Amino acid sequence: MKALVLSGGRGTRLRPITHTSAKQLVPVANKPILFYALEGIVAAGVTDIGMIVGDTEDEIRAAVQDGSRWGAHVTYIRQSAPLGLAHAVKEAEPFLKDEPFVMYLGDNVVPDGITGFVTRFNESRPDALILLSRVPSPERFGVAELRDGQVIRLQEKPANPTSDLALVGVYLFTPRIFEAVRGIKPSARNELEITDAIQWLVDHGSRVEPHIIQGWWKDTGRLEDMLDANRLLLDNLSPSCAGTVNEGSRIIGKVVIEAGAEIVDSTVRGPAIIGERSRILNSYVGPFTSIHHGVEIRNSELEHSIVLENSKILDVSVRIEDSLIGKDVVVRRTTRMPKALRFMLGDHSEVELAT
Ligand code: G1P
Repeated sequence: MKALVLSGGRGTRLRPITHTSAKQLVPVANKPILFYALEGIVAAGVTDIGMIVGDTEDEIRAAVQDGSRWGAHVTYIRQSAPLGLAHAVKEAEPFLKDEPFVMYLGDNVVPDGITGFVTRFNESRPDALILLSRVPSPERFGVAELRDGQVIRLQEKPANPTSDLALVGVYLFTPRIFEAVRGIKPSARNELEITDAIQWLVDHGSRVEPHIIQGWWKDTGRLEDMLDANRLLLDNLSPSCAGTVNEGSRIIGKVVIEAGAEIVDSTVRGPAIIGERSRILNSYVGPFTSIHHGVEIRNSELEHSIVLENSKILDVSVRIEDSLIGKDVVVRRTTRMPKALRFMLGDHSEVELAT
């Protein structure tokens, strides 16, 4: 069995972060989202991995390299244009050949792993196995309708969903899917939809087995989902301390302090992670916060947020919450006159002021 990991896409819903970074490489609990997918695939015993890449190819290659870090072998496949998930499958045919494969969307997180689904697929060998999850807003996803446990209809982001079962971004396919992707037409958004390809299988008498997952799953395409994933993954960490904490500081609950990190006269309430060489001075870091490497937080309060490498939050008197702060960002209070808010914000930035 092979794997096909999709790491293309523009990540428009995560701008401005995705102006400079592939969405699959944004760290959640200080690890790129994509790495959770690779870990899950290898844990299921699949090591021959095709990686679909687009404009962010160089960055994905630099992060994943040849995959040997996971005991895998990664082959890069450049998608000629971002024309949908089924289009990516079509372009990967020369790599996948006649083997069954697991397709994993690189911005999805399934922390309980995929080993059980892979085993089940190999045992009962349907033409496709799809994972479904009950969600409160199915119109944001591919949606499946079941009758008597059988898949009868699939729709991509329907305006009026007829079920609350969303398609999770992990699929198991046999080479029959290549016939399906050749049989479908582009959707209204001009993409070849994998959802339509699976519907084609259903319509042509192929066996499509549904599996409803009980554990949590996240598509991290939007900020709030990213923060949710961060919250849930931080909760899975075991506390540890490879940095230093001075006497005036309090560490409460599950907190990971990475090598070279310094906590000085501060309170960190877990679950939280403080990355390598980061410094927290006279500050409060609250639950569900991931601070990446080389960050400085001084005289400030922060909670339920992700801060990427080498950023600084200095003397901010209002608590920062629900935020994703990019790399090398500076947020600071100033005494400079005239008293005013001064910004230099990238395209598509969002700022909410409490005062
Ligand atoms: C894609 C699929 C959708 C699926 C979702 C899961 O949507 O088209 O059917 O439910 O992934 O993450 P996208 O996130 O590309 O809009």
